[in-house]
Amino acid sequence: MRSYFVFCLLFSAFMVNAAQVSNLARYDHFRLYRLFIETESQVKMLQQLEDISDSYSFMGHARQVNQNLTIMVAPHKIAEITELMERFELQGTVLLHSMQELIDKEQFTIKPKTTPPAEFNWQYYHHLTTINQWLQLQVNTYPHLELIQLDGSYENQSLIGVKLAKNPDNFAVFLECGIHAREWISPASCTFVLNELLTSTRPDVRNLADNFNWFIFPVVNPDGYRYTFEGDRLWRKNTRPYGLCRGVDLNRNFASDWNGQGASSDPCRYDFAGGSEASEPETQALAKFLRANVAEQRIRTYFSIHSFSQLVMFPYGYTTERAPNYNDLVAIGKEGIKAIENTHGMQYVSGAMIETIYPSSGDSVDWVYSALDIPIAYTFELRGPPDSTNMFLLPANEIIPTAEELLAAIVAMLDAAKRLGYYSTGGNKMEL
Ligand SMILES: *[C@@H]1O[C@H](CO)[C@@H](O)[C@H](O)[C@H]1NC(C)=O
Ligand SMILES: *[C@@H]1O[C@H](CO)[C@@H](O)[C@H](O)[C@H]1NC(C)=O
Ligand SMILES: [Zn+2]
Repeated sequence: MRSYFVFCLLFSAFMVNAAQVSNLARYDHFRLYRLFIETESQVKMLQQLEDISDSYSFMGHARQVNQNLTIMVAPHKIAEITELMERFELQGTVLLHSMQELIDKEQFTIKPKTTPPAEFNWQYYHHLTTINQWLQLQVNTYPHLELIQLDGSYENQSLIGVKLAKNPDNFAVFLECGIHAREWISPASCTFVLNELLTSTRPDVRNLADNFNWFIFPVVNPDGYRYTFEGDRLWRKNTRPYGLCRGVDLNRNFASDWNGQGASSDPCRYDFAGGSEASEPETQALAKFLRANVAEQRIRTYFSIHSFSQLVMFPYGYTTERAPNYNDLVAIGKEGIKAIENTHGMQYVSGAMIETIYPSSGDSVDWVYSALDIPIAYTFELRGPPDSTNMFLLPANEIIPTAEELLAAIVAMLDAAKRLGYYSTGGNKMEL
């Protein structure tokens, strides 16, 4: 009798545990389609489809003819999309037959949450805890490095970054990473760049570390990043509830044409702009820090790191009007993509956000450019290509080459901006 009771206890403990594991979002048989939009009626059909059903995840919106679009389709809608594609003569290819297979495979390239910070490396993806412990370890190791903790996320987690400053007179570069939770290559690349600034013996990298000061925030959306490990691998937003849905796209929440085109006012959408301008604690923490430091720390350069699509973009995202220093931004962007190609042969494209990817409003780069007058402001979309078959699940063996490309672009772009006079006193060419 007694042993039966113990057995039942053990068994129910096991059941609870098993139930916890199975609460992770799953994407078995979710298919990725790449669609080639050729007619107005196809545009309309896809817009309606996105509106009426959450069984289709759009990577971008259907906007115009002559546009390629990736969508992820839930398995019970495969017959429906097949029929719709036939009826509307919509061409497309299946990029992937089961998203879950990729997610399962990726598990082998994630270091456990308990990994000691000394074992941090760029062959694996890491939990937020490990990244933050690694940052602390660097701060304990390198004299010119200081930890910055901003309050706080919806879940009361700090936004943790570092400041590397060898000379108070240097101009500063701000590296904002991980604003979109599922884009894991962003935090991975930013920690790589930091490590290179701290340890590289390459003269061009030493030059950057000595002659610029650096603010590097690997994960500015800590709740979302946590949730991609512990809830839903494909989560993009923060985790704050709004009605029955939750999550604000923090890169739509800034006060730059807030809730304009390319953002949604529906909390259930992936690009929900939030309850109001800068409604989210993460946005507020970043904006407050930037406002307080932009002049004193001479922050003239801002990079926001995303994936995927292989783009190097500058303002604006919300208007086709050209930025005041458009020609310089074009020239600097060109240097960036040339340096990327020279590193591992990868092709990136550079241009204004609205011309290059799609309209967006309320993004951080537009905001630092317009509101804070930071003249050199870029959004990177790292690997893979626009028709990537793995999207945000970039294989871990591509972390280092991708991060090397980012570093090469940063070296080349800071050099180009310097030659154009942006890093000399009075060199803020925004007044021109
Ligand atoms: C869409 O994809 C096809 C096939 O990859 C390519 O040939 C075409 O140039 C793409 N169109 C646009 C507008 O990107
Ligand atoms: C965050 O902290 C505040 C103040 O201590 C508390 O009221 C709130 O419930 C916490 N939020 C979460 C999501 O834990
Ligand atoms: Zn992104």
